[in-house]
Amino acid sequence: MSTTPLTSPLVQARDLAMSFDVSPPWLNRVLERKPRQYLAAVDGVSFEIEKGKTLALVGESGCGKSTVARLLVGLYAPTRGDFQFDGLDAHGIFKTAGGLKLRSRIQMIFQDPYASLNPRWIVEDIVGEPLIEHGLITDKDQLKAKVGDLLKSVGLSPLDMVKYPHQFSGGQRQRISIARALATEPEFLVCDEPTSALDVSVQAQVLNIMKDLQRSRGLTYLFISHNLAVVRHVSDQVGVMYLGRLVELADKHTLFDNPRHPYTRMLIDAIPKMHDTGRARTPVQGEVPNPLNPPTGCTFHPRCPHANDRCRSTRPQFLDFAGVKIACHAVEEGRI
Ligand SMILES: Nc1ncnc2c1ncn2[C@@H]1O[C@H](COP(=O)(O)OP(=O)(O)OP(=O)(O)O)[C@@H](O)[C@H]1O
Ligand code: SF4
Ligand SMILES: [Mg+2]
Repeated sequence: MSTTPLTSPLVQARDLAMSFDVSPPWLNRVLERKPRQYLAAVDGVSFEIEKGKTLALVGESGCGKSTVARLLVGLYAPTRGDFQFDGLDAHGIFKTAGGLKLRSRIQMIFQDPYASLNPRWIVEDIVGEPLIEHGLITDKDQLKAKVGDLLKSVGLSPLDMVKYPHQFSGGQRQRISIARALATEPEFLVCDEPTSALDVSVQAQVLNIMKDLQRSRGLTYLFISHNLAVVRHVSDQVGVMYLGRLVELADKHTLFDNPRHPYTRMLIDAIPKMHDTGRARTPVQGEVPNPLNPPTGCTFHPRCPHANDRCRSTRPQFLDFAGVKIACHAVEEGRI
């Protein structure tokens, strides 16, 4: 059941941008007379997430999803824009002594539970480390008790504390990652493809645990996935990204029932039997352009069946259409 929020959103990203310096080495630049080169991985992304809700970000590989995730947890400082968390200027605070406290409120779950857990540590150390790092618990018995509770909350046993990561299955390892992320009792979890590395049968278990934890703890999620079936299962709102920008942002039902942006349509039409509106299907076609040399105007125009001259020359603005945000000239002009 949805209720009207009484407070401002917990998460507010405004015009976030991140460019990477991908210039060739200095000597090559001088000899070959090449300028510095920057890759705009994220270019002006804005969204809000209400407390207790899930925003999913979708889009093809390289569209900037993980870069947004890393910006939100403070692993990168944005080259433009800002991120307000609970009304605080997060990136201003990350740089100060208050950064540690803020980091304890925002945690990340990574895609690969094999790579993200230290193989030489027992589970007690893996899950307990954030508690020690943030100075939340110093007593050894209290630490054990807390780690035991965290393991129980993700469906594992306190007896698992003495084991090493290799003694667990992929799904169990991701549960250990979730227990670790929950150690500091964060309010916001940034989940970057948390189930993509898992077998399909195990994915649902982990997703259900995440949903239960969200309900019981009032957690807010940014959930990144390229799997639209998973997104449909977990999200309240969905943002579709293309080459570093959001092209459509809508509540889940609107997005899946009535996708408006041609790229969103293309993604949804690629899912077998998921969408049957009678509208002609447009399967995913063409390649994502080189982000170092993006197309002019609407960067989607080389792949878009509705592109015209305006699309090729002018970048569409991200406009509000009755609560759905879309960046597309054809939608704005009422052509589609
Ligand atoms: N540290 C970096 N240095 C240079 N370029 C980077 C860096 N990190 C990401 N990029 C580039 O930025 C763009 C966005 O990358 P990002 O990892 O955010 O995409 P993604 O949507 O998460 O992709 P995937 O679905 O494959 O995980 C890509 O073109 C990528 O090559
Ligand atoms: S702006 Fe033009 S090219 Fe871009 S998605 Fe809309 S119709 Fe297609
Ligand atoms: Mg990624």
